[in-house]
Amino acid sequence: MSEIHVVSKDNRQLYQSYFDPYFRLRHEIYVKQRKWMALDRPDGLEIDQFDTDEAVYLFCIDDGRLIGGMRAVPTVMPNLMSEIFPYLNIREPIQRPDVYELSRIFVIPERRGEHAGPRIDMLLLTAIMEYGVSTGLSGFSIVLESWWLPRFERCGLKAHPLGLPQMIDGMSVLAVLVDCDEATWTSLCGQIGMNKPTLTWRGLAGVNRRALPALPDLSIPAQPFVQPAQSTLHGVGHCAT
Ligand code: COA
Repeated sequence: MSEIHVVSKDNRQLYQSYFDPYFRLRHEIYVKQRKWMALDRPDGLEIDQFDTDEAVYLFCIDDGRLIGGMRAVPTVMPNLMSEIFPYLNIREPIQRPDVYELSRIFVIPERRGEHAGPRIDMLLLTAIMEYGVSTGLSGFSIVLESWWLPRFERCGLKAHPLGLPQMIDGMSVLAVLVDCDEATWTSLCGQIGMNKPTLTWRGLAGVNRRALPALPDLSIPAQPFVQPAQSTLHGVGHCAT
């Protein structure tokens, strides 16, 4: 069974053995497979200036093996959008304690596109929403490739573009702000068939966490997720005009 663990500076020592494989996996996936050569380092680790003590990681661990991950960086600290891609956000710069920037979401190749259980990428998205609701966040800023937008819309994430997509190194990339709220978390849980919180907070008893809303009883047949009549990607429809 895959578990999603919250890892921060407060419990990092419990996960020390995972960090070297984690940064190696990132190198394998982003440098070797995706060819994001700007991230290359001779030591075979993909670590950047945003992997600081303030970064929070979600590690997806299955039977002791790291099979996926995601990084969340407080926007009050330097982050990808503020330092590398500020031109993608034509609105007010985002520097707020209630917004974290998400980056480096990945699933190891052999666990992608699974259909037998909840998909790992969906587990990670559900888990980060749970993290946000639990810690009182209102949103997540993300610099992402445009192909994420229909995926987000399909699973009911409310992503607000902060500017128009731009071509960067052959990729169509844009900045978005995604709402973090209880209704989205509840809906994501329903979509992946979870009737209890997803996250493991080992060694983080001291973190002040809000109570999560009750999840629906899954023994009652669930209604399929229905797209709202109007796009939740506010403003995307105007990009082409
Ligand atoms: N370009 C365009 N579309 C992509 C894509 C890419 N680089 N990677 C994934 N997709 C889209 C496609 O629509 C794909 O459908 P396809 O099977 O018809 O190609 C769909 O996502 C499913 O992706 P898949 O990789 O099969 O599985 P997944 O949904 O379980 O995992 C990721 C998605 C992104 C987590 C996984 O592909 C991954 O780890 N990729 C490498 C890391 C990465 O690029 N992360 C995003 C930037 S931080």
